[in-house]
Amino acid sequence: MTTVTTYHVKAPATVLQHISDDTAVRNTLIRFGVRFSRWPVRPLPTEFDAAKVLLAYQSEIQNLKASKGYTTVDVIRVTPTHPEREALRNKFIEEHTHSDDEVRFFAEGSGAFYLHLGDTVVQILCFAGDLIAVPAGTKHWFDMGPEPLFTAIRLFVSPEGWVGQFTDDPLSGQVPRLGTPAVAA
Ligand SMILES: [Fe+2]
Repeated sequence: MTTVTTYHVKAPATVLQHISDDTAVRNTLIRFGVRFSRWPVRPLPTEFDAAKVLLAYQSEIQNLKASKGYTTVDVIRVTPTHPEREALRNKFIEEHTHSDDEVRFFAEGSGAFYLHLGDTVVQILCFAGDLIAVPAGTKHWFDMGPEPLFTAIRLFVSPEGWVGQFTDDPLSGQVPRLGTPAVAA
């Protein structure tokens, strides 16, 4: 179940609000300027095959590319036994921005986006079926957790794919990460 949890930058370990009701999640994300929708979850091949994942969602991808101008699509899959899971977690977990929207469709598993919007940090915990677009220029980070499991389709306007500008803000280390209990307000 997709959830939204907010924190204040002055007390980043304390939960301000936790939202799990689907309508409330959608309304909150609209308020924060995050595009969010769902695609049907389709069965994936037992052996990971990026081309087959893209094929399973071909019509949705084509529609999104046509409506939003995305040109480049790839698939990332990280599992608890992925040899680079720690390096991959560390790469995306520091605060950064992109000149491109960060568009992800979770075909499998889960992962958390954290958006730094003014005085608020908004954690969006996404699951299979969720399509999220973090607007270009938004300070954010992504946590796949200590035991990552997800397959995500990524869409980019830029043909270069994932390019991040890191902010060096330590905030991402102060907000509870996946697998770390937060303090209730
Ligand atoms: Fe990013």
